[in-house]
Amino acid sequence: MAGISTSDKLDLAVFISGSGSNLQALIDACRDPDFPARIAVVFSNKEDAYGLTRAKSAGISTETLSHKGFSSREEYDAAAVSIIKRYDPDLICLAGFMRILTPVFITPFAGRIINTHPSLLPRHGGEGMFGHHVHEAVLAAGDSESGPSIHFVTAEVDRGPVILQRRVPVLPDDTPDTLAARVLAEEHKAYPDAVRMIAEGKVSFTAN
Ligand code: GRF
Repeated sequence: MAGISTSDKLDLAVFISGSGSNLQALIDACRDPDFPARIAVVFSNKEDAYGLTRAKSAGISTETLSHKGFSSREEYDAAAVSIIKRYDPDLICLAGFMRILTPVFITPFAGRIINTHPSLLPRHGGEGMFGHHVHEAVLAAGDSESGPSIHFVTAEVDRGPVILQRRVPVLPDDTPDTLAARVLAEEHKAYPDAVRMIAEGKVSFTAN
């Protein structure tokens, strides 16, 4: 069977701030010639993000833009837009990117930004709900299950349409760390699956 031609692939810009294990999952998925996307650039707001090392090892272009020197989120976002436009991505994948984006960034790429969040949205999402805060909230609420949500990004934090979710059990002796690890393992499979769904036209989002 013929594979996907290079020109049919979605060009991704992957945004990170830290370890970049979800970025790694996307890098690994893109190694499959039949995966319908490739990574055009990895963008980080942190110069020391380990994900940048992962990108460089894979031969992927990187861009770093620290928030230092910018007086507002909007100014930062405008600078990020001009960097990213040079790569002309089809899809922007936020993967552990720890900045809230304003409409200055979101509007030019409306419907073409997705994010991964480590809970079953709409549960435990919104401003301030990131990293261990999410898993602590899941345990405090006594939820019997959790799991990652891959969703489209809108100006309302963690409220854009969900593309897919994967469920994992919450176990009686879970700590935030053990739960985080179980969710993260599922996230690594879910993120490439969501990219594939978009590339294959199975899901889309038109912002109004
Ligand atoms: C993921 O759990 C993601 O949902 C959250 O931050 C974590 C990022 O991990 N926003 P990594 O940088 O991809 O390893």
